[in-house]
Amino acid sequence: MRSLRSRLRPLLVTCAVVGAAVLCVPAALGLLGLLDWVSAVTLTLLGLFGGAVGALALGTLLLHRRVGALGREVRTVMDTHSRRVAETLGDDRLESVRAMEDLRDRLDGLREQALPRVSRELRHAITVQGRDDYEQQVAWTELRDHLDTAPFMPPLRGWAASPDVLRLLVRHIDRLRPELVVECGSGASSVWIGYALRRAGGGRLVAVEHDARYAELSRALVAAHGLDDIVQVRHAPLVETEPATVTVDGQERTTADRWYDASVFADLEDIGLVFVDGPPQATGLQARYPAVPVLLPRCTEDAVIVLDDAARPDEQAIGDRWLAEHPELHRTEEAAEKGAHVFSRKGA
Ligand SMILES: C[S@@+](CC[C@H](N)C(=O)[O-])C[C@H]1O[C@@H](n2cnc3c(N)ncnc32)[C@H](O)[C@@H]1O
Repeated sequence: MRSLRSRLRPLLVTCAVVGAAVLCVPAALGLLGLLDWVSAVTLTLLGLFGGAVGALALGTLLLHRRVGALGREVRTVMDTHSRRVAETLGDDRLESVRAMEDLRDRLDGLREQALPRVSRELRHAITVQGRDDYEQQVAWTELRDHLDTAPFMPPLRGWAASPDVLRLLVRHIDRLRPELVVECGSGASSVWIGYALRRAGGGRLVAVEHDARYAELSRALVAAHGLDDIVQVRHAPLVETEPATVTVDGQERTTADRWYDASVFADLEDIGLVFVDGPPQATGLQARYPAVPVLLPRCTEDAVIVLDDAARPDEQAIGDRWLAEHPELHRTEEAAEKGAHVFSRKGA
């Protein structure tokens, strides 16, 4: 608006000067007598009319130019904004395209590397599982054939010992013909060991159980198989023991501070075979360690101690401690699903 006003100012001044001249000249001619008054007034009116028309035409022209300039400015601003919007949208689209390409590359990588690896690992795991299942099936069948069991036997594996470790126990029972077998942790295995002793023609099993409910269940199982004269399940709650400080993965840690109430073993002598399958690992670090210090003095010279779950680092550490503290012992690592380490006196 300011610019329009400044542009109109010279026009107005010009119009004023021309108008004054148009008014003054006929009047002056009239005064000098060169023009009659009617002609002077007519000339003045014509001059004023001509000036008004000229000023209007000039104003319209200026306005038209100004509107044209404004239109161009608006177009320029709109073009600039449109370009910026288009550039921004273009950048976003470019980003999306790059993200899609990145995703595609990662998917390609996954298809070419990770999937074959996972598939290989899966095939390997299935093969190992299949082999384990077959091994346990074979061991189960051999046990059934060898022991002349009842048709319905307590299932093995899972929380219970696996058929392969039971087959190992049966071989030692057949070889040693022990008078007394001690089992730490009762359950399905107590029944199977009972059958093994019956087939061997003698010997008895004392199965020690910390949990009163499972002691009752194990007793019922033994009774159902008519093995009460061979297998005795003793309930022995876990009581406080002196924990030790051991180093695990470079860190000092405290071992479990509970084990079976040792008074439960007080009357047991000449143990020929010990099966260490309890207390549960959840009791604490190296929970099964006390078995050897407590029971070895009560064992025969040729006794065998079988430690189940020896594939676990915790059980391996227990075995290491036994060997370090009892140099007369040696360890045989048997191939078994959960790992089985066999300890006996050297030369026995
Ligand atoms: C590692 S399991 C093995 C027990 C036994 N040696 C066997 O192989 O069947 C140790 C503990 O499992 C618990 N247990 C016994 N019978 C069980 C059952 N039917 N179901 C779940 N746990 C049981 C007992 O507390 C036992 O001390």
